[in-house]
This record gives sequence, C-alpha cells and structure tokens, in this order.
Amino acid sequence: MTKQKTALVSGITGQDGSYLAELLLEKGYKVVGLYRRSSTNTQSRILSLQNNPNFSLEEFDLTDSSGCFSLVNKYKPDEFYNLAAQSHVGTSFEQPVSTFEMDGLGVLHILESIRQCSPKTRFYQASTSEMFGFNYDKDLNGNPYQDEKTTMLPQSPYGVAKLAAHNLVRIYRSAYGIFACSGILFNHESPRRGEKFVTRKITKWLGEFNKWGDQEFATIGRFFDPDESDTIYYGKPTSRGPIAFPKLRLGNIKAYRDWGHAKDYVRAMWMMLQAKEADDFVVATGETHSVEDFLKIAFGKFDLDYKDFVVIDPQFYRPAEVDYLRGYPTKATMQLGWKPEISFEQLVEEMVFHDQTLV
Ligand code: NAP
Ligand code: GDD
Repeated sequence: MTKQKTALVSGITGQDGSYLAELLLEKGYKVVGLYRRSSTNTQSRILSLQNNPNFSLEEFDLTDSSGCFSLVNKYKPDEFYNLAAQSHVGTSFEQPVSTFEMDGLGVLHILESIRQCSPKTRFYQASTSEMFGFNYDKDLNGNPYQDEKTTMLPQSPYGVAKLAAHNLVRIYRSAYGIFACSGILFNHESPRRGEKFVTRKITKWLGEFNKWGDQEFATIGRFFDPDESDTIYYGKPTSRGPIAFPKLRLGNIKAYRDWGHAKDYVRAMWMMLQAKEADDFVVATGETHSVEDFLKIAFGKFDLDYKDFVVIDPQFYRPAEVDYLRGYPTKATMQLGWKPEISFEQLVEEMVFHDQTLV
C-alpha cells in the first residue's frame, strides 16, 4: 500500500488554494491548509472541505519566519504549495513594502525552513507572468509571446517581489538540491476569483445590475440622464428622486491578458511536483484577449453594449502597466503532458452566469 502523502497549502482561503485543496483531496492526500488569522471569516471558498477528515487548518503568516519554521518542522510534508501572497498588482503600488515582505521575503522563510528541517519536501512557488512586465519575444509569424526564456522586466512592486522569490527558488534548487519549482502562471480566473480583479469585477457588476433591473420599479424603460453620464436610470424619476444604478468604472481596458481557468492551472501545479526533476514552467493558454474583449462577450450574453454602461476612471489606471501577456506553454505540454481544457469563452460564460445567481 502506498503511503498517504501530506501537502501543506498556503493561501488556502484564496481562489487557487481552494481548487488545489479539492484536487489533492480527490487524489487521496492529507491536506493542511494554511490561513492567516482575521477578525472576519475568510473561509467561504473552503466551506465544503471543513468536514473532510483529510483536511485541516493551521494559522500561518508569510511574514513570520518562526511560525513557518515550526509548521514545516511539525509536518515535514511531502509537498508544500506556496500560494499565499498579496496578489493584487494595483495594491502593490500602494503597499510596496508589505507586498515585498510577503511575496519576496516570505518565500525565503519557507525555503529556509525546508532547507533546515525538511529537505525532502517538494516545493511549489506561485510565480507569475507579471514578472515579464512589458517584455515579450516574437514567434516566426511575428506574434508577441512570453515563455521560460523571455527576459523578465517587471513593471510593479508585486512583479519585482515575485521575481525575487522566483530567483530564490532557482538558487535553492541548484545550490541545495531542493526539489523546488516555480509555475510561471498567466492570469487564471473562475467564479471564485477575488472581486477586485477585472474579470470578476465585470461579472459581479452584471449580476448586480441585472438583479436591480428586475425590480418592479425598473420596468418602465431605460434611459440615460443627460447631465449625469456616470449613472444609468431605469424608469421615470420619482418624487423620491431618480432611481439609479451606478455605471461600471474601469481603468485600462486596452490591456491584453492570457486568461485561463483556475481549475486547469492547479492541475499544472500538482503535475510539476510529480515530475522526475524540478524545473520552472510557463502555464498559459497561448491565446490573448483584451479587457474590452472580455467586456464585449460578458455584456453580449444579455444583448447589452458595454459602451452604454462603462466609465473609464483614471483612479483604476496603474502607475505602470503590463500591456500584453500571451504565454506559450510548450514546455509544460511536452514535459508534463499539461494542456488547458476550459476555453476563454467557457470561462467568461461560467463567471457571468455564476454571478447572476449569487447577488
Ligand atoms: P488570492 O485569491 O488573492 O489568494 C491569496 C491568498 O494568500 C489568500 O488566501 C490570502 O489570505 C493569502 N495571504 C495573503 N497574505 C498573506 C500572509 N501575509 N500570510 C499568509 N497568507 C496570506 O490569489 P490567487 O488568485 O488564489 O493566487 C494564488 C497565488 O498565485 C498568489 O501567490 C498569486 O500571486 C499567484 N498568481 C495568481 C495568478 C492569477 O491569475 N490568479 C497568476 C499568477 C500567479 P486572505 O484570505 O486572508 O486574504
Ligand atoms: N483590477 C482591475 N480593476 N484591473 C483593471 C481595471 C479595474 O477596474 N480596469 C482595467 N484593468 C486592467 C488592469 O490595468 C490590467 O491591465 C488588467 O485589467 C488585469 O488586471 P487584474 O485583473 O487586476 O489582473 P493583473 O493582470 O493585474 O494581475 C493578475 O494576474 C497576474 C498574472 O499575470 C493577478 O492575479 C496577479 O496576482 C497575477 O500574478
């Protein structure tokens, strides 16, 4: 009989943590989810796992080296997936120091804990396409793309912190022989995506808007107030004032991203740690779409033109932007046998219809 494997998963309350935990439990792992203490409940994405006898939780903070050391020493896990991070690029411009402490230094705490007390633990680090910044290569047809060989020129404090961690992973692999892998994951979304990321912000808005539009008072007809271009009015203004619903405020909708589904991407994480040798892999779909494309498809599901409902608001611009991401996952396909199964159109549809039922 094969021994049951134990995996520590940091960032368990996040989008990827919840999907990865489900995958590992299906595969028979004992999963210890690492979460940070909070005064409010952050565990909505893992509610369905709480009664699973193979699932447990431990408190953990990326910035606390001694707590990290104790956990690694206590479990000496077969696998450690580090998915915890301050993961919002925009926020990293507002909180660069704490972002660097968590996303850069925090990873060093884990690597050192593994080196010192559990060197056989296989380690997965959540690296990111944000590390490429504005840089890309061109394929034989002249199409821009990024892969493992593309030079990384990050454009945000988040990207720089992640690149520092990425290099630490490489060094711990080559210098100490630790089985440490970085997955250079391009954007991946799902109905569990955080609400501040652009895809979910759009689908959540559509869910709220349609619910509001279903109200009885909103059935007379739609028009736009000529003096208040940021607001959509349904029905006639009443004696209580106009009945209004705010438009969706976005920043740069000309940015291109390679968007996949989180479910496909956590499978790649697991595959990396089952490989013969530790290495770094790009995980992406090879397709790219603009935020505007996402808007067109999402609003198109309701025969709406997004231009009637979106306001471009400079507060959502970033001081420096990553304009174009498109990853070639050839190495992951050839060496791990990984390829995405859920298309961009399916992803948008799943997110849009999920948010119609939630709000
Ligand atoms: P997410 O939903 O934002 O989840 C981040 C997780 O990290 C949450 O569980 C959060 O806990 C936890 N966390 C934050 N600060 C922490 C700290 N100081 N100590 C311990 N835990 C902390 O992110 P995700 O989309 O699942 O992404 C997972 C990882 O992949 C992240 O490292 C992200 O940077 C990276 N990544 C994501 C993408 C993507 O497109 N999704 C692409 C490439 C790389 P709370 O619930 O308490 O906030
Ligand atoms: N969040 C957000 N909010 N982004 C907006 C908005 C808005 O209102 N309007 C336009 N955008 C643009 C951003 O400027 C960016 O170009 C694009 O939409 C995607 O933004 P996000 O969804 O916030 O994702 P991201 O690409 O910055 O970062 C995500 O992907 C990285 C991998 O490339 C995050 O998941 C990171 O953690 C991840 O590493």
